[in-house]
Amino acid sequence: MQIHKDKELEKAVEKIKSVKVQGAKEIAIFALKFLKKYAMKHGFGLRFEVASYVLEQTRPTAVVLHNCLEIVKREQKMSTFDKLIKQLETATKRLAKKGAKLIPDGATIMTHCHSGEAVATIKEATKKKDVKVIATLTEPLMQGVKTARELKRAGIDVHLIADSATGFFMRHVDLVMVGADALRVREPKGLVNKIGTFNIALAANYYKKPFYVTANSFKIDKRKKIIIEERPKEGLINIKGIKAYNPAFDITPWKFVTKIINEKEIINPEELVKKYGKD
Ligand code: MRU
Repeated sequence: MQIHKDKELEKAVEKIKSVKVQGAKEIAIFALKFLKKYAMKHGFGLRFEVASYVLEQTRPTAVVLHNCLEIVKREQKMSTFDKLIKQLETATKRLAKKGAKLIPDGATIMTHCHSGEAVATIKEATKKKDVKVIATLTEPLMQGVKTARELKRAGIDVHLIADSATGFFMRHVDLVMVGADALRVREPKGLVNKIGTFNIALAANYYKKPFYVTANSFKIDKRKKIIIEERPKEGLINIKGIKAYNPAFDITPWKFVTKIINEKEIINPEELVKKYGKD
């Protein structure tokens, strides 16, 4: 089978690669919708397995799609796609309600990159409370702009800052709220999220500010290993003869995370690792 000739798959991959579809949950939903149509056309055989693998590897760090595909492969039913999409969508609503309770009235929240789950939680809080947001630009792809636009559209007071200014502004914020690509309960343990998250967590720890992670339970990562996606140097800077590193994610050790909010519970990182890190 010639994968490179699979135009429909190529188109789907390109949408994810170019970050037209972004955010761990949105990528999973997009891929599940695509794969449902794909399975209806081609069945659940080898061609489907290859397409699933190709989509999963397009953003190899995030774990949601991986966890969903494990279920799809086990059940091999069309209804599984719809069930998983529904679960992911419902999870955001549920965790937003839980997480909003952690946000005090009048709080200034710092967030990083674009997380649908963090944005939903902040929006939920503003139904009853007055909050302000400081959002990072999130270099190099400026994904924080999407966050700022969404919050502004919801009538929330939001300021964008350079990624390098997070330490400077930390003393003015009441809490940090970010999303996640993966919650590692096996080595290397920690919160896997957009590059720069670790720096923010260090600054929050210095100023003793709570650091919350909104992440549905499909983000619990039991994979034996994790690949931190390294994007092309040109995506960062393009100077002839100058080399560059451009990793897209980092891993924040759990000791810098205050609580994880998912659709079922608000949990400490130590409990999360104890509960899910065994098998
Ligand atoms: O929509 P979410 O909450 O699933 O998105 C969360 C993320 O994908 C990560 O926070 C990621 O690092 C942001 S990059 C778009």
